[in-house]
Amino acid sequence: MPDPVRSVVRRFPGLPTLEGAGVRLRRSFSNNEVPLFDPFLLLDRFGSSNPEDYLAGFPWHPHRGIETVTYMLDGQVEHGDTLGNSGVIAAGDIQWMNSGSGIIHQEMPKRTEGTLSGFQLWVNLPAAQKMSTPAYRGLSSTEIPEVTTDEGNRVKVVAGSFDRVEGPVRGLSVDPTYLDVRLPPHGRFELDPPHGFTVFAHEVDGSATFDGSDPRPVEAGETALFGAGGAVRARAADTGARFLLVSGRPLREPVAWYGPIVMNRQDELAQAVRELRNGDFIKHRRPIVEE
Ligand code: CO
Repeated sequence: MPDPVRSVVRRFPGLPTLEGAGVRLRRSFSNNEVPLFDPFLLLDRFGSSNPEDYLAGFPWHPHRGIETVTYMLDGQVEHGDTLGNSGVIAAGDIQWMNSGSGIIHQEMPKRTEGTLSGFQLWVNLPAAQKMSTPAYRGLSSTEIPEVTTDEGNRVKVVAGSFDRVEGPVRGLSVDPTYLDVRLPPHGRFELDPPHGFTVFAHEVDGSATFDGSDPRPVEAGETALFGAGGAVRARAADTGARFLLVSGRPLREPVAWYGPIVMNRQDELAQAVRELRNGDFIKHRRPIVEE
């Protein structure tokens, strides 16, 4: 017996949030939603046509115990860290960063004509990897394959696979899938994530209806969490649809969370704060840069 289709079980409209040094963004889910999205911790959608909403940026801040995934749709973000990495994340690019044991970095959106727009997703690390060596994966838009189907669907594959095309982000313990899906008006789409994985969709533009018990369309800006089951099936509205579809294997480990640091126990958070104060937070001077 195949698993029944996955239904949308929760919807998140996104809360206006002030983050960094004063960036206006919309937060889809965060620490109030643990463990619903396990292994995913947070999803922010930032950007605006008004530079005042984003130019303050995200100046120097630490991370430990997580991966941060920045995906730019429009505009550019400059980044740099205390370990000597620096660069620009431009439209269509992905930065998939493993903070591991600790990194201190900044992420500064650049003034853009028109709209700046992007996402940051936090992926939790299993306990055994929280103190691992930091690693960067910087992928330009040309390194992210796009599958075009006969029906006119366009699917960018960042991680996981679609239509036998595998994304460039591989070898992670939660085995993530990260797709950017564009459907023409009334276009149909199906993906069958592994049994037991957590799956959510964030509607970027247009709207889509997902098969299952909740027939209401998922509108632009909404994040839909799917329940247990098999395939996710979508049908675009007459406006077409664009959504991020993300899945991953739940870690089912305790979560202790303090701002940009996510560990398993309170004493690990206390230790991180102590190390930040004492200046011995950074354990690995040179992160691995993976191409
Ligand atoms: Co950061």
